[in-house]
Amino acid sequence: MTVDTGLLGNEAQTEAQAEMSRREFLNYAWLASLGVLTAETAVVFYQFSMPRLGPGEFGGPVDIGLFDILPGIGAAPEPFNKAKFWWVVDDEGGAIAIFKICTHLGCIYSWKPDQAKFICPCHGSQFEREGKFIQGPAPRSLDRMIIRAYDPGDVLVAETNEAGDPLQVPPGSRLVVETGLRVIGEKRTD
Ligand code: FES
Repeated sequence: MTVDTGLLGNEAQTEAQAEMSRREFLNYAWLASLGVLTAETAVVFYQFSMPRLGPGEFGGPVDIGLFDILPGIGAAPEPFNKAKFWWVVDDEGGAIAIFKICTHLGCIYSWKPDQAKFICPCHGSQFEREGKFIQGPAPRSLDRMIIRAYDPGDVLVAETNEAGDPLQVPPGSRLVVETGLRVIGEKRTD
């Protein structure tokens, strides 16, 4: 009787240990799955939050070249198609990069030398050489991009301010236009 009870006790203990092992295994498996899921979510989130545009692509910083590519002071605007903007240098020598998309419904406007203004072919909005709204359905002046100027040692020496004012570029600078950073044009006042 005593012996039998001992054997049953051992069997019960072995079963309890096996049950415990099963539970532990399931717990570890569950924790491992959770860990894998968390890691995958983190990777997806990281990839999603990273900028998808590299240097040189529209939407990111575009290296334009040296200062001497700018149009002359007060000259007609020059298109820089790769980065979708117009170069303008105002009468005081300040450089402006004007986004090529109309602020009305997004058409591509063009420079009309005979009228010395930008005109949009879609609904006729007109803008001055520096992008200021003149007339038409556009709700505001043209948007500008941020220009950055670097010296030969690659040190930033000038940058378009938050208001988008024309930038005095030190001669000899290398220019970069931040095509994804735009200063929204001033709202029309009428
Ligand atoms: S899209 Fe330019 S005026 Fe309408």
